[in-house]
Amino acid sequence: MLTAQGVVKGDRVIVYMPMIPEAAIAMLACARIGAVHSVVFGGFAAPELATRIDDAQPVALVTASGGLEPGRTVEYLPMVRDALAQSESAPATVIVKDRAQVPGAAADFGWLDWDEQTSTAEAVGPVEVAATDPLYILYTSGTTGKPKGVVRDNGGHAVALAWSMRNIYDVTPDEVWWTASDVGWVVGHSYIVYGPLLLGATTVMYEGKPVGTPDAGAFWRVIAEHGVSALFTAPTAIRAIRKADPEAAELAKYDLSRFKTLFAAGERLDPDTFAWASEKLGVPVVDHWWQTETGWAIVANLRGLEPMPLKPGTATVAVPGYDVQVVDAEGAQVPANAEGNIVVKLPMPPGTLAGLWRDEDRFRSSYLSAFPGYYLTGDSGYIDDDGYVFVLGRSDDVINVAGHRLSTGSIEAVVAAHPAVAECAVVGIHDDLKGQRPSGYVVLKSGVGISEDELRAELVAMVRETIGAVATFRDVTVVDGLPKTRSGKILRKTMRQIVDGEEYSVPSTIEDMAVLEALVEQLGH
Ligand code: COA
Ligand code: AMP
Repeated sequence: MLTAQGVVKGDRVIVYMPMIPEAAIAMLACARIGAVHSVVFGGFAAPELATRIDDAQPVALVTASGGLEPGRTVEYLPMVRDALAQSESAPATVIVKDRAQVPGAAADFGWLDWDEQTSTAEAVGPVEVAATDPLYILYTSGTTGKPKGVVRDNGGHAVALAWSMRNIYDVTPDEVWWTASDVGWVVGHSYIVYGPLLLGATTVMYEGKPVGTPDAGAFWRVIAEHGVSALFTAPTAIRAIRKADPEAAELAKYDLSRFKTLFAAGERLDPDTFAWASEKLGVPVVDHWWQTETGWAIVANLRGLEPMPLKPGTATVAVPGYDVQVVDAEGAQVPANAEGNIVVKLPMPPGTLAGLWRDEDRFRSSYLSAFPGYYLTGDSGYIDDDGYVFVLGRSDDVINVAGHRLSTGSIEAVVAAHPAVAECAVVGIHDDLKGQRPSGYVVLKSGVGISEDELRAELVAMVRETIGAVATFRDVTVVDGLPKTRSGKILRKTMRQIVDGEEYSVPSTIEDMAVLEALVEQLGH
């Protein structure tokens, strides 16, 4: 189908799809013909899709008529139409998988129908590529509003993922493996599609949630029905199940005899959730830490190689291939148990990012220039006396909401565009269920007559339309001023600490202490 539309090796293809088999089929079709896929998460709205289209300059876009979310359906085609209209590099070809649950005809938009096209398409053989040719581009949030196009190669990626399936996850080809995530995230690329299939194992694709579709037993039902031996999900999903079913009564209804490990990543696995899941499931609950850029685990407990004792709050030790170190602001290694920037000494192992799509300067400035000779992960944490790595959180303006990586900078850009807003800051504050959530603090232009409720409703709608529902932006507070350094940098970390009721740090370069004191009065605990 793609070849018939003239897609050839090296061409980019955007895949904007819900969790249906055709999403994986489209990705693998690109891999087979040497095209470079770029999957965009369905929870992003048209402007975010347009940004990615403009950066990747695709020749084709593959989509579906819609997706299923709890209590509503998401129509993709109007969003694709808007994104193409907003884009300067709209692809010539758009192919639509029409789904019975959310019907939408490609012909209404002048596009091609997946079923019609595949019914007449001829089989084509695999196209040879170099190990270092790009397999995919996956956009992820950086500190600015412009997403970063992480480029993955073919050879190193295949080697790393196949190795990880056996040595980190302890899965064999005869087993059923399930990653409850979405193909739009790196976890979905590596462990819904490529990892299990490279190994020859069976992978489960699930278009649903841990709760509400229909109940908190959904995960246990899928595990039982398909004989799943290992599940990989985000800690948020476990917290959602626990909230709905604290005693895990749903578990008793299903046969989980083949289930042997629960893996968690995407955000920190808090000790409380770790303890609950370990007790209720009676299997090892294994945290591991990685990011879109690396494509596979940096720190893990190697279940298939040499399982180590599990400690709450840590993802265990550096995976072979990664020389993980913690350094201070000057780049000097800190002693055990001291917090600092987590870095990886170069070279990076196979499978990690080959660069940022057509942006070598940003690749270097984002990851390689802070500490020469080291890759900057953007996370802070410490290594204990036993070599266990504790990841505490991001040291930049990236936040993690329900395991979804978002940039506060991009939300700020939308909020700042409101005519009543003089300036604003968006920070990631603690959320019991989602780990973090974005919270906006707004200074109004003088003389504007808008109520806080009205402003909140307008800003929430703007963020939803510009970034997407996945931003879950709901908190807006009007403040008199934002604390800043004398050079004008907003003290976001200090604000977050105040809102979260933590001890807060005040840099000596603060411009006006009175602004901070007023904020403590208004927002502090
Ligand atoms: N397409 C369209 N919209 C989507 C979407 C998608 N693929 N994924 C999420 N959304 C929408 C949701 O419908 C919701 O919209 P709403 O504001 O109209 O309700 C919004 O984005 C926020 O979604 P989410 O953060 O997922 O919240 P939720 O309340 O629907 O569900 C959890 C909460 C905890 C159940 C859910 O976040 C979850 O299962 N998390 C697991 C995390 C995960 O899989 N992470 C992936 C990386 S490992
Ligand atoms: P993403 O690129 O979307 O996978 O997000 C990567 C970021 O999520 C990391 O830089 C961390 O901040 C966070 N993260 C992922 N896994 C973990 C984990 N196991 N523990 C702590 N933080 C994590």
